[in-house]
Amino acid sequence: MRPSEILHLLRVARPPAPHGAYRLARCATIEDVARVARRRLPLGARAYLENGGEGQHTLHRNRAAFGSYTFRPRQPRDVSGVDTGTTVLGQRIPLPFALSPVGAPRMFHHDGELAVARAARDAGIPYGISTLANTSVEDVAEQTDSPLWFQLYIWGDRSKSKEAVARAKAAGYQALLVNIDTSVRSERIPEKHSGLVLPSPQLPLKTLFEGALHPAWAWNFLTSPTVSFPNIGPPDQRSLEVMSDMFDGTVCWDDLDWIRRIWDGPIVLKGVTTVEQAREAVDHGLDAVIVSNHGGRQLDRLPATIDVLPEIADAVGDRVEVLVDSGFRSGGDIATALALGAKAVLVGRAHLYGLAAAGEAGVRHCVDILARELRMTMQLNGARNIAELDRGLIHRRGSADPAASAASALDSTASAGSTASGASADSPDPAASERSSAHA
Ligand SMILES: Cc1cc2nc3c(=O)[nH]c(=O)nc-3n(C[C@H](O)[C@H](O)[C@H](O)COP(=O)(O)O)c2cc1C
Repeated sequence: MRPSEILHLLRVARPPAPHGAYRLARCATIEDVARVARRRLPLGARAYLENGGEGQHTLHRNRAAFGSYTFRPRQPRDVSGVDTGTTVLGQRIPLPFALSPVGAPRMFHHDGELAVARAARDAGIPYGISTLANTSVEDVAEQTDSPLWFQLYIWGDRSKSKEAVARAKAAGYQALLVNIDTSVRSERIPEKHSGLVLPSPQLPLKTLFEGALHPAWAWNFLTSPTVSFPNIGPPDQRSLEVMSDMFDGTVCWDDLDWIRRIWDGPIVLKGVTTVEQAREAVDHGLDAVIVSNHGGRQLDRLPATIDVLPEIADAVGDRVEVLVDSGFRSGGDIATALALGAKAVLVGRAHLYGLAAAGEAGVRHCVDILARELRMTMQLNGARNIAELDRGLIHRRGSADPAASAASALDSTASAGSTASGASADSPDPAASERSSAHA
């Protein structure tokens, strides 16, 4: 090579800074953003963000499960004009994913929900606001004209839930997400070890020391308004008392019937992990379910949501919309879920890493990454729109080889008694899938 050619290859300029934040410049994946986030957060906030319930089996299973699914592309096809738009809960959105409700996001960045809402607005995607948000439903609604969903934890004192629902309605929220996965609060052991006591963050010596090691976070945390929970009562109310009333273990199906009577918009049941729960949601007149294990943060030893999604989608058909979350970190993950029957995906940590890394710019960067990866995955698969992401594109490791089973199905019509079986990703029998995966 001539020196001039080598010089041409050398890049001395700083890489472009997406959305103005240089620390994001080299972040090409959500995991890259997560690394930046981990460096910026003190131990307590990191523990709150990253960990799962009890033994963390579900947390790890959520990610590991994606390794069992492979694509069966339909290329070659002209995919130059791929369309990632879809309709969710009656609203047309440009991307098939939404940002999950999250309690206390100001632990990750002082702008909290305001930063996330602005990023959601720019992408035109829905954002779910938690009952335990640090910003009021009214203030969030002022930031965005893209769809807003309110996530409701039902209080022991139901009149408080009614008040929260009325406030969300008045502020223009379009859908209500109601949880069935939080009858009581789970134990997240690393949070306890870190000294974090939510919802009343305290400042033990350990936390102060961690703050000193993360001065940017500590400065912003200490110089912005005190963390509060404006959707569960006045700021001076003792939030720990409210919490114990909220997660008192009394929520049952009757409450969903009552919510149906006081909310006339779409109701989405969050935290469904079984076919039985999804069928009940249909029977109780609900509009959608989110197949969710709360990102592995509540009941441990639940299956990965991607593994139970197909049987749940099959069981309810088009009687309710099926959304999914827990463990989604890439556009490829999202494409897999859509192909297995989800209408849309919610992403939790995959936007929180961005929030922690660089506030609003960070969330926008994460949304950009997911959108770019999804588009690329669709194009490489030969899927020109969301409807073309279907079951035929997916093979689950351990299930029958799809091409072989198609051939042997033909054989079996010729010779009665031959079996072209094996559980597939769409097997409605989880035990059968389990058995067949075990043979992989
Ligand atoms: C830090 C944190 C706080 C959360 N707070 C809430 C909450 O207040 N309400 C709720 O319904 N879900 C909450 N979730 C669960 C998310 O809505 C979502 O189900 C989960 O994050 C999806 O998994 P993922 O993080 O792997 O994407 C929280 C999740 C995280 C990571």
